[in-house]
Amino acid sequence: MSKNKKPLNIGVLVSGNGSNLQAIINSIEKKALNASIRVVISNNPNAYAIERAKKYSIPNKVVEDGRYSERKEYDTVIAEVLLKEDVELVVLAGFMRVLSPEFIRRFPMRIMNIHPAILPSFPGLHVQKKAIDYGVRFSGCTVHFVDEGVDTGPIIIQAVVPVHTNDTEEELSKRILEQEHRIYPEAIRLFAEGRLTVSGRRVIISDCVNTRGVLVNPPITI
Ligand code: GRF
Repeated sequence: MSKNKKPLNIGVLVSGNGSNLQAIINSIEKKALNASIRVVISNNPNAYAIERAKKYSIPNKVVEDGRYSERKEYDTVIAEVLLKEDVELVVLAGFMRVLSPEFIRRFPMRIMNIHPAILPSFPGLHVQKKAIDYGVRFSGCTVHFVDEGVDTGPIIIQAVVPVHTNDTEEELSKRILEQEHRIYPEAIRLFAEGRLTVSGRRVIISDCVNTRGVLVNPPITI
């Protein structure tokens, strides 16, 4: 990591436990990620993620969505907070709201999301259960830029995990979450280092090392 470069200012939007927020904090603490979390915003006053932010003295704010009848109105409030903090990248980490096109246009290709499936398979909610019910042999997680669709934006990084026979939703979710904690800080690091260029649907990563592995599940035994 270059020592002289100014840290990337990020704002993290959360709704729940905040284990991805924790993974990002850990990477910053380890100096693996040159970023500064300027603010954590939650729509849920009971989100444990807010406790995590407090523990590290990270500025945090609860903006309850129940108080706003229009999506646009809510999004204007949080956009103002993010802009006031000079946020360069908005990181959605388990934020359970769909953002308005107006919000997205204020941060073009400057919003990232993590989704617990290999997009474009299984967009939306409860996707670990959907993957099990469908019978896929692999699932995983995806970090992507956010566009005006739901889980449709350009893909930055993905990790694949096997789906085992008899997996419960909890078991698969845990296996996926472990990989989320690895790929989200990495995606932010690539952005912070200026290595991501969006070209149509594709994200071009400069100086990218190609992976050689081929995965088969269940393994071939002949
Ligand atoms: C993760 O599975 C993420 O992919 C999804 O919501 C969950 C958030 O977990 N969008 P956490 O709050 O980061 O622990």
